[in-house]
Amino acid sequence: MLTPSAADAKRVFARLDELYGIGGGGGANRPGFSPEEQQAHELCSAWMRDAGLEVEIDAIGNLVGRVRGSRRDLPEVWTGSHLDSVPRGGRFDGALGVVAGLEAVEQAAREGPLQRTLAVVAFRAEETGCHGSRARCVGAGLPGTFVEVHVEQGPRLADAGAPLGLVTSIAGIARAELEFAGRAGHAGTTPMSGREDALTAAAAYVLRVREVAKQIEGAVATVGRLEIEPGAENVIPTLVRLTVDARAPDAERFEALITALELEPRYRVEPVALAQAPRNALRVEVEALGLPVVELASGAGHDAGILAAAGVESAMLFVRSLAGGVSHSPEEASSEEDVVLAVEVLTGALRRLAAVS
Ligand code: HGY
Ligand code: MN
Ligand code: MN
Repeated sequence: MLTPSAADAKRVFARLDELYGIGGGGGANRPGFSPEEQQAHELCSAWMRDAGLEVEIDAIGNLVGRVRGSRRDLPEVWTGSHLDSVPRGGRFDGALGVVAGLEAVEQAAREGPLQRTLAVVAFRAEETGCHGSRARCVGAGLPGTFVEVHVEQGPRLADAGAPLGLVTSIAGIARAELEFAGRAGHAGTTPMSGREDALTAAAAYVLRVREVAKQIEGAVATVGRLEIEPGAENVIPTLVRLTVDARAPDAERFEALITALELEPRYRVEPVALAQAPRNALRVEVEALGLPVVELASGAGHDAGILAAAGVESAMLFVRSLAGGVSHSPEEASSEEDVVLAVEVLTGALRRLAAVS
């Protein structure tokens, strides 16, 4: 007979597998606002209803499952994350926070009556710009407290031998699109000296992105997409469009990076510190399990950062990544043992936060 927590982990992993199977395999393939993300939301709302949660779907499609507390006058306590994924993504990014969050809300409700209402949320389209959480911040009501469980997506907890980590802050993210113009010409008859080659100009910039980011401690910058026109092998490129994703851990370095790269971001989220109170609620539970307390900053963006910036007391619990910390890849991995611990810590923290009058 499985212990309750082991049973929880089995169900969490079975649900993660079910979500992973949407989109035809070869990684998680649930782009924001796609039929695949919709299918994941429908699956998750069925799990919520089966658990007896009160289900809300808001105007942009965020999914919220509630267990009502006795004090409806008090701000709610939410957990959750996102169900969309990058192309060929991993099993855990986003989905772990929703599935483990549902497990913890159910467990917390089973343990006795609640003062504050608890909820688990699946925000829409996090990967392409946190569309769901940003819309919620300007639309329908927000919780007073939000705790997001997320796979670390890096090697630091594994290096520290710690199954869980408490997140201190979330890096600023700027995303921009740049164009480099050239002049069409015949690949065979145009002398090298007279060329206006859009791609060689873009290539010089791509190398500059790397050099600038390396010179700012803690900064990272990535050219993830590059398109060439006309794209014929015997025509000198006339136009190159490329994207830059630039990040830094604090405001000063963030501004320096954006300036040095001459970016005009179409998407910009400032670096944000996470709240002490919910982090302390997590810390007490981590210590009660006799686990090491590791605090770390997040280089990845999260819905928790959007809510924190909107004034919601937000915290994050990272779960150790295996496989060298790889993420945004089918190789993304975490262990059942660590997920069990995360559900136990989250359950205790949610009950603690729901008891605050
Ligand atoms: O890009 C990110 O940091 C996150 O995975 N959305
Ligand atoms: Mn994520
Ligand atoms: Mn992601």
